[in-house]
Amino acid sequence: MSKHLLKLKVNGRDIEVAVEAYHTLAQVLRNELNLTGTKVGCDMGTCGCCTVHIDGKAKLSCLTLALECQGTQVRTIEGLNENSMHPLQRAFAECGGSQCGYCTPGFIMKSCELLEHNPDPTREEIKAALAGNLCRCTGFMKIYDAVETAAQELRSDAPARTPVKAGD
Ligand code: FES
Ligand code: FES
Repeated sequence: MSKHLLKLKVNGRDIEVAVEAYHTLAQVLRNELNLTGTKVGCDMGTCGCCTVHIDGKAKLSCLTLALECQGTQVRTIEGLNENSMHPLQRAFAECGGSQCGYCTPGFIMKSCELLEHNPDPTREEIKAALAGNLCRCTGFMKIYDAVETAAQELRSDAPARTPVKAGD
């Protein structure tokens, strides 16, 4: 079977890679680009381990054909914060939200999407956002704690909003 040229951005870098039509994004990230932070658990859309961002939306890379990502911007756990730990990564470590760690990249990428849209989620909103991610180790509570902790840190880092003046 002939390969197809896939052009996309991954973690801000232009990538060109030859892929088979049946290759998933998860396979290309891990096997062709050596971005093994994206994990594959079930390989059938039920665990959330393989979550990455495609054009800013959290998607399951095991259910996404690589060629569907032609021209898109993909962000993986490696691209979350290249120079230091992202507050979510730090909070998962500090709160005990990661034990074996296999599910952690998926939880963090999904949580990151949540906090980019909702900087101050309630616990119920966190649970709802993470309902498609499974963890066999932590019992989930420490994961929810970690997301709340990171949200708090991100809010305190956010630049103060310019007060709206009357008449603006
Ligand atoms: Fe993709 Fe489980 S590996 S959802
Ligand atoms: Fe082991 Fe979640 S930390 S599966």
